Amino acid sequence: MTTTLWMTAPYIAFTSFVLGHIWRYRNDQFGWTTRSSQIYESRLLRMGSPLFHFGLLGVFGGHVVGLMIPQTWTAAVGISEHVYHLMSVSMGSLAGLAVIAGLGILLYRRVKVPAVRQATTRNDKLMYLLLAGALLTGMLNTLTNVFDTYNYRETVSPWFRNLFTLHPAPHLMAEAPFTFQLHVLVVLALFAIWPYTRLVHMFSAPVGYLFRPFVVYRSRDPQRAGSHRYAKAWVTPEAPPARSRWV
Ligand code: HEM
Repeated sequence: MTTTLWMTAPYIAFTSFVLGHIWRYRNDQFGWTTRSSQIYESRLLRMGSPLFHFGLLGVFGGHVVGLMIPQTWTAAVGISEHVYHLMSVSMGSLAGLAVIAGLGILLYRRVKVPAVRQATTRNDKLMYLLLAGALLTGMLNTLTNVFDTYNYRETVSPWFRNLFTLHPAPHLMAEAPFTFQLHVLVVLALFAIWPYTRLVHMFSAPVGYLFRPFVVYRSRDPQRAGSHRYAKAWVTPEAPPARSRWV
């Protein structure tokens, strides 16, 4: 049962991730945004957002090394398991704490600032729940592992790599401790819903924002909504016509 789970769940999440992004890109380009709430509040956003995003870059780097680089390779360049563990725990904890503190500020802002709270959809709430779950369970693994109790590079990491070579080794994940399994399950659920949330901005921000036509905000007033002036607001005589793909 659990081996079936560790063989199928990652591919289901991956399929949803890839096909979902293609579907969203083709059908909802004007919705392809962070749905920024900076206009409502910027002080807390200025603190929370960089802390969260730079922390996440650190966590991402740590995951690339920990999951993608085999233990034999780091040993071959003279990094002992003990030294590797010290580096990974210290840098991982620092990056993990930054990202959790950043998300804490962003969530506090979402709850405490009425306009931001009102701009929060049910979809956002599910996304924040899974994101917070992924971060907290990840941190739980790192902190409970400070004294070298479990070497995930012998199970979780080869399980992860084998998924890409299409030689799944589900038994490796099935024998990992429960907290590691929980982390990966929450992460897979997050990947599965990713394309249907505001997280799609990861593939465009900030570079893509420079090249796309500006987003048109239309009045909800029914009399104005039908007006041609609003319907074609993004086509101006000076600007080249927007690529049809985008409109
Ligand atoms: C399938 C993909 C993933 C796997 C297999 C995985 C596995 C792991 C493992 C084994 C650890 C413990 C690292 C250590 O103690 O040195 C960890 C930590 C952590 N994970 Fe993940 N993870 C995945 C994706 C993610 C994602 C997408 C996020 C963020 C949204 C995340 C957030 C964290 C955090 C914050 C930590 C603690 C800090 C750190 O060590 O970097 N993980 N993860």
